[in-house]
Amino acid sequence: MNLTLKVWRQRNSKDAGRFETYEAKDVLDDMSFLEMLDVVNEGLIARGEDPIAFDSDCREGICGTCSLVINGVPHGGHRGTATCQLHMRHFKDGDTITIEPWRARAFPIVKDLVTNRSAFDRIIQAGGFISVSTGGAPDGNAVPVPKTSADAAMDAASCIGCGACVAVCKNASAMLFVAAKVSHLNLLPQGKAEKDRRVLHMVRQMDAEGFGSCTVTGSCEAVCPKEISLSFIAKMNRDYGAALLKGV
Ligand code: SF4
Ligand code: FES
Repeated sequence: MNLTLKVWRQRNSKDAGRFETYEAKDVLDDMSFLEMLDVVNEGLIARGEDPIAFDSDCREGICGTCSLVINGVPHGGHRGTATCQLHMRHFKDGDTITIEPWRARAFPIVKDLVTNRSAFDRIIQAGGFISVSTGGAPDGNAVPVPKTSADAAMDAASCIGCGACVAVCKNASAMLFVAAKVSHLNLLPQGKAEKDRRVLHMVRQMDAEGFGSCTVTGSCEAVCPKEISLSFIAKMNRDYGAALLKGV
């Protein structure tokens, strides 16, 4: 395939940024989207030009680092698929593809397609942990966990913290991410001791970082590569209300 790429280029956070057009030639069906960009970058480097900056790490859908808005949709719009899992077989010869960074005030652009998502780290630092007395590892059966709670906690824990939910939301809300991180601990017996403080602190930090409010459009669930359910937002709202009523 030969493709035309319209790529967002921005030197730094102060630069206004603009789209630039590149030709991607002899792209193979089996290439991943990021491999296609690697090849384009090799051409740029060979010509002495600045390669396109973009984030990636694991390239197998588990780390949450890749973060491209492809043709207007975070991760490209294929259900349960992160950018690094997207293959070029979904495109056809002659296509024009636009590639942009996540766009949200709380995720400032560092360069080109790279954004600073450390706001998510600060939300985790506010309460996304359990405090334990370290010592010998307890027996696996010492704390019984109901199967339904274990399953729901695992579903929530599959959030990879990519930020696509924020990037797609018209309010740039981080509720799906925060709800997943609150719920995966609040659902388990080991996480219940700090349940109220956790939800209050993490929601407070989310607001302080400048993320918007949730108006339940459901766009976050639609683009989430781990298909985190909106029902976790409802659960977090219940936990939040209960903590407020207790006057924690
Ligand atoms: S909820 Fe989904 S889209 Fe949002 S950060 Fe987690 S994995 Fe990414
Ligand atoms: S690079 Fe790790 S999830 Fe895409």
